[in-house]
Amino acid sequence: MLNNQPKHLSHGALIAFIEEMSKLCTPDAIHWCDGSQAEYDNLCGLLVQAGTFKQLNQERWPNSYACNSDPSDVARVEDKTFICSRRKEDAGPTNNWVDPKFMKIKMNELFTGCMKGRTLYVIPFCMGPLGSPLSKIGVQITDSAYVVVNMHIMTRMGSDVLKLLGADGEFVKCLHSLGAPLGPGQKDVSWPCNPTTKYIVHYPEDRTIVSYGSGYGGNALLGKKCFALRIASAMAKDEGWLAEHMLILGVEDPTGRKTYVAAAFPSACGKTNFAMLIPPTDMKGWKVTTIGDDIAWIKPGKDGKLYAINPEYGYFGVAPGTSEMTNPNAIKALSKNSIFTNVGVTPDGDVWWEGLTKEVPKKIYNWKNELHDPASGKLVAHPNSRFTAPANQSPSIDAEWENPNGVPISAFIFGGRRSTTIPLIYQAFNWNFGVYLASTMGSETTAAAVGEVGHVRRDPFAMLPFCGYHMADYFNHWLQLGRNLPNPPRMFGINWFRKDKDGHFLWPGFGDNMRILKWIIERVNGEVSAIESPIGWMPEYEDIDWGHMKFTPEQYDTLMEVDREAWKHEILDHEELFSRMYDKLPKEFFFMRELLLSGLWRSPEHWSLAPEIH
Ligand code: OXD
Ligand code: MN
Repeated sequence: MLNNQPKHLSHGALIAFIEEMSKLCTPDAIHWCDGSQAEYDNLCGLLVQAGTFKQLNQERWPNSYACNSDPSDVARVEDKTFICSRRKEDAGPTNNWVDPKFMKIKMNELFTGCMKGRTLYVIPFCMGPLGSPLSKIGVQITDSAYVVVNMHIMTRMGSDVLKLLGADGEFVKCLHSLGAPLGPGQKDVSWPCNPTTKYIVHYPEDRTIVSYGSGYGGNALLGKKCFALRIASAMAKDEGWLAEHMLILGVEDPTGRKTYVAAAFPSACGKTNFAMLIPPTDMKGWKVTTIGDDIAWIKPGKDGKLYAINPEYGYFGVAPGTSEMTNPNAIKALSKNSIFTNVGVTPDGDVWWEGLTKEVPKKIYNWKNELHDPASGKLVAHPNSRFTAPANQSPSIDAEWENPNGVPISAFIFGGRRSTTIPLIYQAFNWNFGVYLASTMGSETTAAAVGEVGHVRRDPFAMLPFCGYHMADYFNHWLQLGRNLPNPPRMFGINWFRKDKDGHFLWPGFGDNMRILKWIIERVNGEVSAIESPIGWMPEYEDIDWGHMKFTPEQYDTLMEVDREAWKHEILDHEELFSRMYDKLPKEFFFMRELLLSGLWRSPEHWSLAPEIH
């Protein structure tokens, strides 16, 4: 069997892992990835031959490819995602759990012979800058060349990582198979996967991930959600740091001062747009720079501040809605060396998705590779179609983004997609209220996960699908971390998505979000006042830099209103979440809930920044 195992390799545990897994999976060949451009180009060539990739027009899209997944394999599969901790109570009520003893038997069955007719690729990868004290190493085994080339963009991978591992370095074991073995002479399909059986399994105590049956996104690129969030959150709890579903951005003010913030939003709420925001033209001298768009690893430094790195090396962004108008930085990031999955492709090698331009191209194949019929009402791109693009191709990339020590975080921002109730912006009274705010965050569901779209689900810290242990232990971990910080970052709630009675968005969003971000920055730097509302501190109309924006005090007031009846429901709904994890819920939460309720009852029924309007 072909096996290019590096000659100098001396890591006994790694060699044993690969030998054991290849015995189990019985691939035809083993390929140890070196992470080189030649390897990447070669694999992309193989994917073109296999009919998986279409090479795009090289002039318009240098070194870029598009592909369509199987229609059964288009998103993360939360109902097939398991946290198999030894004890059920460590996984908690919001995770699927199966006793690891049984799960291992099941996985063993599924993986037996699962790579027949395929190549087993070994991907040594590093989450975070090579050599950073905040980084961690993983080794993914996969039988998907598509996964290898995506991991090439999304992580630092290859020979350099093997060197870092040395003879006995620690690594997270990541095993992945498409679950589609090939019989002798059997012709492959363009997107192999297992259409009926999918499992995404985490063993947090063993620091091990096993994924079967899917080749798509977070199910298959195991460095991302599986490692950098689910396994890393369990590591972070044990080791006193945070692994969060957060973007990290820097704000430079006209004096050149830089302030970094981290922000959590549930999937598909415009995180990538916010991370790459371009301020409106009237806000001269203000600039936003990007450290990361999805995941943050955050550790307390010796000086008592929190320092954050982006463990990833690329963007795996939602394509629809991304355009020169909404996110010019992302458009530049994906303009070359990128992979597009489930977007539309024209016969002359151009890509398109809803929102990229106003006009649909005249002749275009949709994400199912059918010729698009405008009369059909069908979408060209799948709502969860993605671009995979190198992070440093965004013009907004921060000069410090690979600083091994991370960047200091001054504020946390928590946002959901809520059409009612939640105001545009408010600041939590203190760290504990911030943790409560983040724990009770809610969002109307999106296409990033399989399931019903449009109803509100509680998504604490945007971590509900990504926390590798009991959610209430996670809340306690946040509270505990704050107790040890002399001057913890300030915490803010935002909601770009509030609507009026007729269903129109009240806030334009995008570049104008900078006006709100500016208030946050001035607030953390002690430069602007705020007014006390029943739920936190709020900017008054005059505190926001409106520049050229036409936005009346009345409009602002509607956006900022705290309606007692709506909040009563909101807080009752918190109860529903809490009652599911009552045994481990921080006792502080009950008191904060009471404080919020009594604040609401002591305030006017329709609390407003300008009471005379109501
Ligand atoms: C993502 C997600 O892909 O959150 O980033 O689903
Ligand atoms: Mn995400």
